[in-house]
Amino acid sequence: MLNLRLLLFSVAFLSPILQIKGDDFKEEMFIKPLPPSHLYVYFQFLTLANGEESFEHSHLAPRSLGEIVSRYQVEELHLTLTEGQWKHNTWGYPVLDAAPGAELYAWFAPDVVDVDTQWKKLSSTLSGLFCASLNFIENMNTVSPKMALWPTGAYSKSHQNITSQLRYASLPREIVCTENLTPWKKLLPCESSHGFSSLLNSRMIHNTNYHSIGVHIRRMCSGSNCLDTSLEIKQTVALVYDFKILNTMDWSLRKLFGQGLPGACPLSSSSRIYVDITSNSSYPFKLLPEPNSIMFSHRGGSKTELAVYEINHSNMMNIGAKYEMRNKIFVNIPPPLTFNRYVLGYGKEFGGIVTELSNNYWAPIDVVLLENAPWWLPIQLSTLRINGEAESKLIMSQYYSPGRSRQKPYHLELLLKLPPKSTTTVTIDFEFVFLKWQEYPPDANHGFYVGSALLSANLPTAKNYTSLPITGSTFDSIVNASKPWYPIVFRTNGGMVSLPTPDFSMPYNVICLACTVVALAFGPLNNICTKEVVLKIIVVPVSLRQKIFNIFKKKKD
Ligand SMILES: *[C@@H]1O[C@H](CO)[C@@H](O)[C@H](O)[C@H]1NC(C)=O
Ligand SMILES: *[C@@H]1O[C@H](CO)[C@@H](O)[C@H](O)[C@H]1NC(C)=O
Ligand SMILES: *[C@@H]1O[C@H](CO)[C@@H](O)[C@H](O)[C@H]1NC(C)=O
Ligand SMILES: *[C@@H]1O[C@H](CO)[C@@H](O)[C@H](O)[C@H]1NC(C)=O
Ligand SMILES: *[C@@H]1O[C@H](CO)[C@@H](O)[C@H](O)[C@H]1NC(C)=O
Repeated sequence: MLNLRLLLFSVAFLSPILQIKGDDFKEEMFIKPLPPSHLYVYFQFLTLANGEESFEHSHLAPRSLGEIVSRYQVEELHLTLTEGQWKHNTWGYPVLDAAPGAELYAWFAPDVVDVDTQWKKLSSTLSGLFCASLNFIENMNTVSPKMALWPTGAYSKSHQNITSQLRYASLPREIVCTENLTPWKKLLPCESSHGFSSLLNSRMIHNTNYHSIGVHIRRMCSGSNCLDTSLEIKQTVALVYDFKILNTMDWSLRKLFGQGLPGACPLSSSSRIYVDITSNSSYPFKLLPEPNSIMFSHRGGSKTELAVYEINHSNMMNIGAKYEMRNKIFVNIPPPLTFNRYVLGYGKEFGGIVTELSNNYWAPIDVVLLENAPWWLPIQLSTLRINGEAESKLIMSQYYSPGRSRQKPYHLELLLKLPPKSTTTVTIDFEFVFLKWQEYPPDANHGFYVGSALLSANLPTAKNYTSLPITGSTFDSIVNASKPWYPIVFRTNGGMVSLPTPDFSMPYNVICLACTVVALAFGPLNNICTKEVVLKIIVVPVSLRQKIFNIFKKKKD
């Protein structure tokens, strides 16, 4: 997308009072209506810290992250915390995809030998920083992808074993809440007092259908020959609102966030809002106020039309759209690659995971599929079937690493060539295992989450999707429209299985029953044992009439 190209090309040489030369902070917001009736709002805060000892001397970059990066020798890091599931098949593609729950992956510097220890330390530290349960990341849920993930920043290319320095883990159970957003906002130069981040109050964010917060750190080349690198910290928030919940298709910042935008962050060199108005030709709407300019982004033949607002530092403003046709539903054009994943099987013995990949494009697409199954869901390579066949010509390369009980997950990577206009089904069977009784979560009957599969592809020239293509090297910019393809990584939806679970209510039932019996027996027994039996002399009450009668009787005597 054009905005990112601008972002990265224009290094700020702005007011020296506010910024040390080389440090830069930019805030951006991207708004796009999604079919059938949703609205995508994406925030991006980009901090660039220049120089070798960048963090120590940076005014803008958060020190806490800088220390983590330098102490654990992290070259590139991606952390996302996501609630909800992005629907690629109807919404198209997000700017940055994220797995449901928590997801963390990082590359360590080439000279880090004991990567696993550094990884454990890194995840524990981040866990404390973001108040998330990342400390549950251990060897038993970490894989080291061989083909699916590549650094997006400037990673020393002379080092051959990039993948050996990479660790990936996802925690699909992790729930995102206010505790995570508050420390995330503290990392921004303006925190939440000024600028776009003041819109991010948790009440409005947690009302959305999908929300994802992320921190992405990578190294960027500073010079043309990449002798120096600077660190780029990208903090993102992706939100998807439902027009049905807003009750109208007309949106405005005030409606979405409960308040207007109180100007830009004074420390930012640029504060821009982009509204995707490509859909205006078929579903006309009016933007209020008028945008400052209209931009066209040409990417491999597809044209995106963007309305751009330059936000100034002091003015309070509200931006909104009014649709001419009310309650119309957008028509959905499927993106070039769509996918779906589900769990097969019945009973408590065997099951299977199915991943369906559809290539809607007229040319073949190469994809890398990474299946990452926890140790308690043993998948066997021998049961792998592509379109129902054990031997398939579609597999161009594969990597399989069997798991080990309580130590290592199952890891399968396939490089597949998806034929044009076709659907490929990848099925792999698993067995259910019995866990030890302490290994069950408190709500064992809820089921067990299976993380998403990673899907990485070089998509043909972008058509009809919003996504920031990221190339491996920063030499040839981030967006290079003349490239015939875009590398991109997706996450499929996760799954859920119900493992054989013992009846945890049994002890409770036994206790209840035993206590009832004891209570019922105790009362009478206690009575019998403690009460004394005494004879009581019965005094028959004498009525008044009888008394008077008695007096007369005495007188007579
Ligand atoms: C790269 O990895 C291979 C095997 O994984 C190992 O034999 C080789 O020494 C590694 N090379 C470097 C430079 O670390
Ligand atoms: C959408 O198109 C209509 C006319 O075709 C135009 O009046 C309107 O300004 C456009 N809206 C935007 C946001 O560009
Ligand atoms: C911000 O200021 C610039 C020039 O100072 C002006 O052109 C632009 O319209 C202003 N933007 C808004 C949203 O008021
Ligand atoms: C992109 O959208 C156009 C219509 O806007 C459609 O004709 C074309 O087939 C779509 N391309 C892809 C790859 O889906
Ligand atoms: C884009 O990529 C092509 C081929 O990879 C290269 O020749 C060209 O210089 C690049 N353009 C930019 C702006 O980096």
